[in-house]
Amino acid sequence: MKDFLAISDYTTDEVKDLLNLAIKLKKQYFKKGNKAIFRGKVLGMVFQKPSLRTRVSFDMAMRHCGGDALYLSPNEIGLGQRESIADVARVLSGYVQGLMARTFDHAHVVELAKWADIPVINGLSDYNHPCQGMADALTIIEKFGKKSKGLNITYLGDGNNVAVSLLHVSALLGWNFTLASPEGYDLDPKAIAIGENIAKKTKSKLTFLRDPHEAVKKAHVIYTDTWTSMGQEEESAKREKIFPPYQVNAGLVAEADPDAIVMHCLPAHRNQELTDDVADGPQSVIFQQAHNRLHAQKAILARLFDVA
Ligand code: CP
Ligand code: NVA
Repeated sequence: MKDFLAISDYTTDEVKDLLNLAIKLKKQYFKKGNKAIFRGKVLGMVFQKPSLRTRVSFDMAMRHCGGDALYLSPNEIGLGQRESIADVARVLSGYVQGLMARTFDHAHVVELAKWADIPVINGLSDYNHPCQGMADALTIIEKFGKKSKGLNITYLGDGNNVAVSLLHVSALLGWNFTLASPEGYDLDPKAIAIGENIAKKTKSKLTFLRDPHEAVKKAHVIYTDTWTSMGQEEESAKREKIFPPYQVNAGLVAEADPDAIVMHCLPAHRNQELTDDVADGPQSVIFQQAHNRLHAQKAILARLFDVA
């Protein structure tokens, strides 16, 4: 595979291989530091939206392994405005060895990959967030062990980009995935169809509900994300009226499995989708999850650069 644009482009075995490599590189990093497997390589990072985790974790992933990264802000590139995406891709292919792109429109990251001669990684689009999904899976495996088949993953809130990648990685790994969202904020039907196709092979059960209480029953993982994603800011007042029943708070968490963990990709809007007591409580793994971006992405980069 040349690029990393969607987890659903990969097979169960390939996803497991990436996760095993992430575990190995994480151990190596904490033991004696990573080997310089990215020496001589620079990752270009094209951002059309803000970022803390994605930007810093990719930059550090490259540096820890002897490579480097170059941040390209929205104003510098003007993707598709100052210059066509095809031209940007072909020019950058002669300067850097890999590209990470965070775009609004998913078609733009696909277009970059089409024209680039170098690997392209999706660092979040309006459709999905595959690097987040890999870090989420790594975190779930760390908490529940590799024999995690049959776990119940519940996502509450907006059927957004983060939910799409969580659905696909859950289906690939044989986890049951339940999503509860308000009417009008469902998951993309195309993403559901892809998930259902995968789930047929892995026997994962996919359930789509309205009721957050029904959704958290027997949940081993309770996951939420912002009610208003980047680019939807003008809808935030409307969404803040609709989404409160989906807030992850102590009452709702108490309805899940007693050993359930609470996840959020961050940034969190504290006391909106996730209350402070839960975010900072014993069941929360939100910072482990954020830190795992680093390790999961080292594995993705290593496989795309074909160096590990
Ligand atoms: N979770 C995540 O992608 O965070 P950033 O938007 O800060 O990169
Ligand atoms: N759904 C959020 C995720 C941020 C990491 C967004 O797209 O803004």
